[in-house]
Amino acid sequence: MNRVKTFKTILWAITGLAVAFGAARMIFGLGAVSNLSDATPWGIWKGLNVVPGIALAAGGFVVTAVIYIMRREEFHRYAKITVLLAFLGYITAATALVAELGLPWMVWHPIIYWQHHSALFEVSWCVMLYLTVLFLEFLPTPLESTGSLAAIRRFLTKYKLVLVFLGVMISTLHQSSLGTMFLITPDKLHGLWYSSLLPILFFVSAVAVGPLMLILAVLTISALYRKPIETDILAKLAGASAIVLGLFGLIRLIDLAANGKLGLAFDGSGSAVVFLIEFTIGVLLPVAILSVKRLRRSQAGLWVAAIAGVMGIGLHRANIAGIQLVHTGPTYVPTIYEIGISLGIISAAILAFLFCVERFRMWETPWEDPRQAPEAAPEFDRVADVWLGTPRIAGRTVYSLVFIVALAAGLAIVSTDRIESSGIKEVRAVPARGGDTLFVDGNLDGYGVSFAHKAHVDREGGNASCSRCHHMSLPHDQQSGCATCHSGMYTAADVFRHDWHAGPDGGNLTCNMCHATDRERSAESAKTCDECHKDLIPTNAQITVKQYMAPSYTDAMHGVCIQCHEQKAQQLAGKESLARCATCHGQRQTEYLPAGVYEQFRDTSFNRVITPPMATGGQSDGKDAE
Ligand code: HEC
Ligand code: HEC
Ligand code: HEC
Ligand code: HEC
Ligand code: HEC
Ligand code: HEC
Repeated sequence: MNRVKTFKTILWAITGLAVAFGAARMIFGLGAVSNLSDATPWGIWKGLNVVPGIALAAGGFVVTAVIYIMRREEFHRYAKITVLLAFLGYITAATALVAELGLPWMVWHPIIYWQHHSALFEVSWCVMLYLTVLFLEFLPTPLESTGSLAAIRRFLTKYKLVLVFLGVMISTLHQSSLGTMFLITPDKLHGLWYSSLLPILFFVSAVAVGPLMLILAVLTISALYRKPIETDILAKLAGASAIVLGLFGLIRLIDLAANGKLGLAFDGSGSAVVFLIEFTIGVLLPVAILSVKRLRRSQAGLWVAAIAGVMGIGLHRANIAGIQLVHTGPTYVPTIYEIGISLGIISAAILAFLFCVERFRMWETPWEDPRQAPEAAPEFDRVADVWLGTPRIAGRTVYSLVFIVALAAGLAIVSTDRIESSGIKEVRAVPARGGDTLFVDGNLDGYGVSFAHKAHVDREGGNASCSRCHHMSLPHDQQSGCATCHSGMYTAADVFRHDWHAGPDGGNLTCNMCHATDRERSAESAKTCDECHKDLIPTNAQITVKQYMAPSYTDAMHGVCIQCHEQKAQQLAGKESLARCATCHGQRQTEYLPAGVYEQFRDTSFNRVITPPMATGGQSDGKDAE
């Protein structure tokens, strides 16, 4: 087998595995294949495919702008390739995004439900619009060989400039708004990466790395298909890229220095090392190589510079999108399935890329002579090989075989344990722990809210305030923890427990103690709770209880907390932000809890001693029912 075949066979195998893992993800949910959780909602798909992928796709608008707007004709031969790269880059990102969405079938929501305060809203619109533009920019290429749709091709070619302008505009918006998105992470992202200039840095790095990615693609094609390339043209592109890359490095350094954060790079921490590596391979190395004319014009120089630049900027994005973000939950390590899907999406994109390169005239001159096309010259495999047909047909046979075997293997590998345990689990809420300040973290995922219980009680008027929140309690108790009744973290729970009341292991009451004998047994005919439980609901409770399904812990918390915070936000001067999510969720747990307290409470099980059943046999009040 030749290089191309071997390369494609490997790619097909990875794609096959990924399709199997992807199917498991779609059918059984995220938990079946990934280690993503509420604490780590962004994993390798965002960190590898989406955020870096978009940067690498930037060549699409940079190079087209150079060709069509600056009218640099010498680069014209790479126009189609660069558009194709961008198109596939964006599809890669979009596919990974859909794989990662908790409810992927709702991906269209931003089209209808507008949230114009959100940077993500801008990002998603730009992605959708730009994908459309790229599709239209690319469409004329496959249409070249078909006569029938020539009208469409002519139309699109005629208005190419409009598309290019649109592309540049949307990309500029989009590349920078991707950076804007991370502005909300000032206390989550490591200081070496967080900057108020992130939107600018994202844009500049995209402009720098886009052409490098194109160069890498061109070099790869030339190596795979033994195509001649014009290093002098590539050198010009690379030179321009190096200037922008240098600018990017300069902005970063000045920004770090201006904010007094440059020292962080040399404090010897893991992050500092990562930063130095990233800066060296992403900026210093490519700039150094490309600034030497002789190296710039050599294939080896271009190879090293392009790979370094692409990897360096890719790492930069990955750092921002995940690696250097502070995690509160358990450490996240991607599963082999996540890695498989991630690589599979990339493999599929490369296959699509190679397909286009082989079938369409992606860059004019070399394809002028059909004999140069790889499948044109019939080639006979060695004697020992089985004759599977002409290379193209033989290829198809081999690839489909590899794909199907990999798919089957993938399905076999997907862990059944994981799938079984991935169903919607009942998460039982656990009462808050702490002293005067409670740490409310019902599902013990480390992500919770510090609630200054005492401060709230004092503010609300001491003892009279209790019923404002503690609207119902267990029998013989006051101010029961909310988790005892709101016991499902995300699901409602039955507080009354009808069968428990009547069962011998529970209340051990006979039916007639609650239900009148002469009437049909129903809610209306039953005794009310307070006929037996005088203390269940405090007299001045603010929440009226009409039925006994207690909403989830999360809803109970939000119901009580947000309702009052909304009121107070309007009443109190200077407290407008009380009802914002960040007022409760934005604080770090350590701010309120002394060091070590959280760890100490995290694993202690909560044992509430319920006062034993009503005096004699638990039925003393029951006699009223007769
Ligand atoms: C006044 C305080 C307060 C405000 C404001 C608030 N929350 Fe909460 N929220 C809580 C508390 C308390 C919990 C329970 C935390 C826990 O048990 O982990 C909670 C839980 C949650 C959870 C579940 C957490 C988990 O561990 O699964 C989500 C999601 C959530 N809130 C989202 C929001 C959003 C979105 C907003 C803004 C629209 C918001 N909250 C506003 C107090 C608040
Ligand atoms: C602003 C609302 C609010 C007010 C007012 C309030 N509490 Fe609480 N209280 C809570 C919350 C929330 C919890 C956490 C319960 C949980 O996570 O299950 C709690 C927990 C408690 C607990 C611990 C429960 C347990 O299971 O051990 C006690 C005791 C308690 N409160 C007593 C009081 C008393 C006494 C008052 C009145 C002086 C009062 N609370 C007023 C919201 C309030
Ligand atoms: C003894 C059981 C019990 C305890 C303890 C309890 N609740 Fe409830 N809670 C209920 C039930 C039952 C309902 C449903 C009421 C209804 O829908 O008619 C409810 C409803 C609510 C609601 C929704 C009210 C509405 O109008 O939809 C909120 C909010 C709430 N509880 C908050 C709390 C908080 C906060 C605590 C702790 C401070 C707490 N509850 C303690 C049983 C309990
Ligand atoms: C502690 C009081 C109590 C006892 C004891 C009790 N019930 Fe009920 N029962 C209720 C209440 C309150 C309701 C309405 C609320 C509900 O459906 O959960 C009810 C509802 C019912 C309903 C109507 C269910 C529906 O879906 O509408 C039936 C039937 C019923 N009970 C039968 C029985 C039988 C049979 C027994 C004895 C084994 C019994 N109950 C014991 C209080 C009680
Ligand atoms: C006929 C008397 C009677 C009636 C009516 C009654 N209960 Fe009970 N309930 C009991 C007895 C007896 C127990 C067990 C001993 C105790 O804790 O008081 C009990 C226990 C409970 C408990 C604590 C046990 C647990 O963990 O679930 C709750 C909560 C409760 N009842 C809720 C209710 C609600 C809500 C109603 C109204 C729909 C109600 N009960 C109506 C007699 C009654
Ligand atoms: C009865 C009204 C009321 C309820 C209910 C209430 N809060 Fe508050 N909370 C306030 C007020 C008022 C403040 C502002 C105190 C101040 O800063 O002067 C506040 C402040 C806070 C703060 C600090 C905000 C800041 O930055 O100053 C947090 C956190 C908070 N509440 C969380 C909660 C949580 C969690 C709950 C639900 C368990 C809750 N609150 C329920 C009235 C309430």
